[in-house]
Amino acid sequence: MKRFKKVLTVLLAGVLTMSLWGCGSASKQTAEPAAEGKQDNAAESDKDLIVVGYAQVGAESDWRTANTKSFQTTFVEENGYKLIFDDAQQKQENQIKAIRNFIQQDVDYIVLAPVVETGWETVLGEAKEAGIPVILSDRMIDVSDDSLYTCWVGGNFIKEGEDAVAWLNDYLEKQGRGDEQINIVTLQGTIGSSAQVGRTKGVEDKMPEHKNWTMLDRQTGEFTQSKGQEVMESFLKSYDDIDVVIAENDNMAFGAIDAIKAAGKVPGKDIIIVSFDAVKAAFEAMIAGDMNVSVECNPLHGPELLKLFRNLKKENP
Ligand code: AHR
Repeated sequence: MKRFKKVLTVLLAGVLTMSLWGCGSASKQTAEPAAEGKQDNAAESDKDLIVVGYAQVGAESDWRTANTKSFQTTFVEENGYKLIFDDAQQKQENQIKAIRNFIQQDVDYIVLAPVVETGWETVLGEAKEAGIPVILSDRMIDVSDDSLYTCWVGGNFIKEGEDAVAWLNDYLEKQGRGDEQINIVTLQGTIGSSAQVGRTKGVEDKMPEHKNWTMLDRQTGEFTQSKGQEVMESFLKSYDDIDVVIAENDNMAFGAIDAIKAAGKVPGKDIIIVSFDAVKAAFEAMIAGDMNVSVECNPLHGPELLKLFRNLKKENP
């Protein structure tokens, strides 16, 4: 499938910077690892299939497992693809290793959902040298040479942060609390990831418009429920007047909800819970009254990439 690869590299360069919807739902799938030692040429053993190596962040959240599932159910033999999946366990060094394995296996495409934005020049330079297009999924990277990746498919994280502030403002107004002093704490995602950088920025940019709002503290909960709970417990010990928790994903919000309940307070009432992702369990938490809002972020990137590949192939058979 090398001819398709070359055509796509040329066509996509500088053309596509897509933003998928805003922020949707859902468990770790059986994955085929790009393990060291598994150096058989995947493209050769599956001659008619397009081989995609996917360097995934990890399985830290419901959103992430939904995103993984979306790739694993889309890039299947019936659709003409073979997916080689790698779970980096939230470590950039694992993703770099996975990309080098994909290059050795001479895959047709590399899809990268980068853990953090920086530090990609060397390994993506190796992929470019090997003539393998790199498609970014979900998060962006910060590189001076845009030719190191072909296109990006992901969400607008800054807008999500701004939307969270707009919702909070409306909610407080409706509650008759528009002029009250409002104390906020933030559970941030993985520091340096686009989702953290963008959501934090979207909120911070809008904070000055609300003079009666104070950001008491911000700390990373690494996008996981357990760390979100741990950080929220420490916030509750440090501050007895928290009005709002902004959790930069649903799983950290679930951890915060548990911490708030354990501290004898009522989440959703005593402390307003603002979150991101809108996974199924977040809707359940909102119905139960534990969570107040979750700004949607759609994890279903697989079909979008499939459409993209197919359209280009149709135009350039
Ligand atoms: O990059 C998207 C973010 O990463 C999602 O909000 C979060 O749940 C995931 O871990």
